[in-house]
Amino acid sequence: MSSTAQSTNSLSSVAANHAANRQPGSAPLGSGLEARGIHAWFGKHHALENVSLDFAAGTVTALIGPSGCGKSTFIRTLNRMHEFIPSAAMAGEVLLDGKDIYESGTDVTKIRLQIGMVFQKPNPFPSMTIGQNVLSGLKLAQIKSEKKNDDLLEECLTRSGLWSEVKDRLDAHAGGLSGGQQQRLCIARSLAVNPKVLLMDEPCSALDPGSTLRIEDTIGQLAKTMTIIIVTHNMQQAARVSDYTAFFLSDGGPGQMIEVGPTNEMFSRPKDSRTENYVSGRFG
Ligand SMILES: Nc1ncnc2c1ncn2[C@@H]1O[C@H](COP(=O)(O)OP(=O)(O)OP(=O)(O)O)[C@@H](O)[C@H]1O
Ligand SMILES: [Mg+2]
Repeated sequence: MSSTAQSTNSLSSVAANHAANRQPGSAPLGSGLEARGIHAWFGKHHALENVSLDFAAGTVTALIGPSGCGKSTFIRTLNRMHEFIPSAAMAGEVLLDGKDIYESGTDVTKIRLQIGMVFQKPNPFPSMTIGQNVLSGLKLAQIKSEKKNDDLLEECLTRSGLWSEVKDRLDAHAGGLSGGQQQRLCIARSLAVNPKVLLMDEPCSALDPGSTLRIEDTIGQLAKTMTIIIVTHNMQQAARVSDYTAFFLSDGGPGQMIEVGPTNEMFSRPKDSRTENYVSGRFG
């Protein structure tokens, strides 16, 4: 057996193991997120062509593909961040629970509260305390949680897997946390506003393996109550955390979504030879 075949096999067994152990939550969720016919441009550069993808509520979808194929661009269209880039344009629809987030008159701030985002580089407010960071989204949006601040803090930090490490220093500055802790703090901050969808663009790429595994555990827990879309270059990570995987590729032209399917199938018997070449490490 070649080493390539072995690595693909182990990816598919990791993915099959994830699928077998996946325990969906029991909370009633909405109908999820649907992207329909998404195109994106930067000036004249057509970066993304006609991408349609469904993200069922309570599932984790990994977006994979070589650098520059449009993964970050696509994920930014899902919570209306793309339009804030100068020169950026887009076409298509994104439906959250059946309603287009691009419909005229939609309050973009409200959309961002429902569709949160965690970035590659942790971006806590370093001079705010850990506690203030978690609650900052509520403050910015001028909304009040039904829960008491202390309860909400504990809940969000527990869900993001950070509580036990910071419970005795909630008043310390967030800048003093490690990179992995800062990323889990950013996840806690996203959770405080109770989003339905969490977008994560390479959330572990700057982290050590231990912090990465903790965040993957966190993703597994969160997926019981929300829909998660994660961009990753790490195939093992996609196999460990995701229910579905979508493969993007730019073949000289705009980026396209080549294939989507259950993660264990994408890693064991992809339909498109380009997917197979990518997941087996032949390019990218
Ligand atoms: N702000 C921008 N201005 C102009 N072009 C951009 C901008 N952001 C991305 N692009 C272009 O759009 C295309 C897709 O980029 P994008 O960042 O979405 O790729 P990606 O798949 O996320 O790559 P990576 O894996 O390296 O993060 C690329 O050709 C890129 O150069
Ligand atoms: Mg990117």
